[in-house]
Amino acid sequence: MTGRIVPPPDKSITHRALTLSGLAQGRSRVRNPLDTGDCISTRRCLEALGVAIAETRSPEGERVLEIEGRGLRGFQEPENVLEAGNSGTTARLLSGLLAGQRFLTVLNGDNSLRSRPMLRVVEPLRRMGAEIHGRNQGRNLPLVFVPAAGELQPIDHRLEVSSAQVKSALMIAALRAQGEVRLRGGVDSRDHTERLFDYLELPLRRDDSGLTVQPVDSLPCFELTVPGDISSAAFFIVGALIGGTELLVEGCGLNPSRLGFLDVLKRMGARLEVEEQAPSGGEPVGSLRVAPGPLHGVEVGTESIPFCIDEVPLLAVLGAFAQGVTRIRGAGELRHKESDRLAAVARLLSVLGGRIDLSEDGFTVEGPQSLRSGQFDPKGDHRIAMAAAGLSPGIRDGVTVRDFEAAEVSFPDFVGVFRGLGGEVS
Ligand code: S3P
Repeated sequence: MTGRIVPPPDKSITHRALTLSGLAQGRSRVRNPLDTGDCISTRRCLEALGVAIAETRSPEGERVLEIEGRGLRGFQEPENVLEAGNSGTTARLLSGLLAGQRFLTVLNGDNSLRSRPMLRVVEPLRRMGAEIHGRNQGRNLPLVFVPAAGELQPIDHRLEVSSAQVKSALMIAALRAQGEVRLRGGVDSRDHTERLFDYLELPLRRDDSGLTVQPVDSLPCFELTVPGDISSAAFFIVGALIGGTELLVEGCGLNPSRLGFLDVLKRMGARLEVEEQAPSGGEPVGSLRVAPGPLHGVEVGTESIPFCIDEVPLLAVLGAFAQGVTRIRGAGELRHKESDRLAAVARLLSVLGGRIDLSEDGFTVEGPQSLRSGQFDPKGDHRIAMAAAGLSPGIRDGVTVRDFEAAEVSFPDFVGVFRGLGGEVS
């Protein structure tokens, strides 16, 4: 593989831009939104709550969503169950929006999402006064948000897991609370919501122990352009590194809280050059040049994981091509993603004749290993499907990935782009 890619629009930023524009007063414009499975789920849920969303094009031909916000308290009761599909971000962010509303909502998801933990967001929202019922005492979807008689109350909450989704859900609920919401503990994770709050000049304070959000009367409407998704670019970066070719990634989000993967790659010996351009919506944007070099194993500890959480499966893949031992710890959250991603990468490497030692919260891979071609089923998990493809350039005769459509959840036409760069999957 060789060449240049412009990654698809950032999934996390698209979810947040849609959700906050639904809460805003007036018409917001989101340029270059991601238009695939997960973000379509967020869009459909907002529409069911009464948010009008129209699709247009900018004079330059870019896709633009025009969103008529309903204000903080202007949503309508949906006629039917809200479906978050495969999208954890939709389910968590919307929980913050639905808690304490005056109407009833039922929120559901697909088989994978129904097995993922929700209590981490339900429990603090209940402490804020929201009445939320759900399967397994609120541990899993479907969740039922009961019409509230009063307003949400302030809380001081300690996040036990560093989850940007939980943090963001509580920040969104905080906008309607009767006083300050203080978040401590695991607040060090991707900070797109914080940046969007700053961009909209919402009252957010940060200090050494966490974040404080103050309620507001209303949110202003806004315009922003969504940059490319570094997590989608990551699969091509890995492909280039193990295929021994150069790659230029353009128009990519460069938010430092998403660049943990690049830091690990540099420590492994990859040559990366980052060039920042003008920021967009409070987010740094730029290009990234990747040149292959001899890779060696690294240790990645708990504190780094929130900043590369979605790229950890790729580190297992790279570890198999690097000289020496790659050891990941503190990544137990991967067991609660779209699938158990630690088990999934172990399956992937073993299908290809590789070796990996799994632990409860990570793995150890010793390289270099000589992998052979094989057939792999990602079982509907988009990042695992793409990890298998990322690995393909390093294996003679490549990897046959079944159910490749899974990748489309976050990367439209992944197969087309991959083939365009000379990669092959079947
Ligand atoms: C996301 C946060 C992460 C990440 C997911 C998207 C977000 O999940 O894995 O792909 O947009 O906030 P957690 O916050 O649960 O770690």
